[in-house]
Amino acid sequence: MAETLTITDNRTGKQYQIPIQDGTIRAADLRQIRVTSDEFGMMTYDPAFMNTAACRSKITFIDGDKGILLYRGYPIEQLAEHSDYLETSYLLLFGELPTEAQLDAWIEEINSHTMLHENLKKFVEGFRYDAHPMGMFLSSVGALSTFYPDAKNIADAGSRRLQMVRLVAKVPAIAALAYRHIIGRPYMLPDNELSYTGNFLNMLFKMAEPRYKPHPVLERALDVLFILHADHEQNCSTASMRNIGSSHVDPYSALAGAAAALYGPLHGGANEAVLHMLEEIGSMQNIPGFIKRVKAGEGRLMGFGHRVYKSYDPRAKIIKRMADLVFEVTGKNPLLEMALELERIALEDEYFVSRKLYPNVDFYSGLIYQAMGFPLDMFPVLFAIPRTAGWMAQWEEMLTDPEQKIARPRQIYIGAPHRDYVSRDKRR
Ligand code: ACO
Repeated sequence: MAETLTITDNRTGKQYQIPIQDGTIRAADLRQIRVTSDEFGMMTYDPAFMNTAACRSKITFIDGDKGILLYRGYPIEQLAEHSDYLETSYLLLFGELPTEAQLDAWIEEINSHTMLHENLKKFVEGFRYDAHPMGMFLSSVGALSTFYPDAKNIADAGSRRLQMVRLVAKVPAIAALAYRHIIGRPYMLPDNELSYTGNFLNMLFKMAEPRYKPHPVLERALDVLFILHADHEQNCSTASMRNIGSSHVDPYSALAGAAAALYGPLHGGANEAVLHMLEEIGSMQNIPGFIKRVKAGEGRLMGFGHRVYKSYDPRAKIIKRMADLVFEVTGKNPLLEMALELERIALEDEYFVSRKLYPNVDFYSGLIYQAMGFPLDMFPVLFAIPRTAGWMAQWEEMLTDPEQKIARPRQIYIGAPHRDYVSRDKRR
């Protein structure tokens, strides 16, 4: 027998059988609940989408209570250990791990799109010397829509694939361009003999040497960080990607919007905010006072808490291990001790324990990025690069889902009732 939910409307005494599928009822089924036939019908009110599934997805699974994260069914721990970013991006975008031949072809395809149009350089040159790289990143990605008007053809599967390749291939170059612009160094061309992250490091840090050789430990660490950040189901920026994309705008414009959502300090900007917080705390002896202020509601312990994870974020565990490997090469980040102490106190403190606040992906990633030589304001950009694969996979899934339409939430209007215009001289 099909599962149903029985709802009794006390206003009318009527009963309704609402079908249950996947532990969910369809909000639209509630519309039949009404007192008079001319009413709109019952809606659900769910600010911040705390309890609303907006899509059916095959991409990423999270069990926030158990701390499980799977991409297309594969545990994040196994991907972080055995895979690399380009293979993982293939998995996210196309649903299966590639064969050897498919992976070679994918790398080849990405490598043939790593260059940026020269005009984009001029565009970035227009930014001020102290422009935030994330601002430059998201506007440059948006600007790409003017370079590739063919991307408007979102109904064509071949065109969608081409834009996926272009975006995955070009975002490291855009990020590097923004970085070199701030520090006043010439833009470096990609070196396609290097890995995805090796080439990114090359475009960021190459000076006058004939060939840039990335440090293998740092190259691998960045690759693992990229795997960990590649997708995270319906978070704020991914929901933005889907929402904007649902209007059938080109993916560059949609991705610029997703990157803007990521920029916020409650989302991808949190890794930068963690470092600012640690610098503000300044020393170990100030930690108890800081924790006291957080508990009094005078600020947040950045890098802690998550809408979905109510236990240790599995990505944070992997990053904490990576940090040790990176620090062996770069030397310890002096802020690490403070971070460890904050974590120790928070994991024992009733305030954090009762609210199930644990370190999230951003708590330790910033310390690694800083030790690797990245300035703080590059951190959200380092998040946006790998998330591009996730955004594009979610965009593709949304566009090919026959149930999806332009996203358009409802509201409960609480403003003034109908009233007549009052001329200016009669207003009080
Ligand atoms: N420090 C102190 N208290 C916190 C924190 C924190 N980091 N996070 C949540 N709380 C408290 C809230 O004050 C609230 O307490 P209350 O019930 O007494 O009012 C309770 O925990 C629940 O918090 P909400 O804000 O309702 O939780 P929500 O799911 O809306 O927020 C979020 C999740 C935004 C991640 C939040 O935990 C936060 O602001 N964390 C700090 C920023 C951060 O690290 N963001 C990165 C998230 S991961 C990512 O986007 C990649």
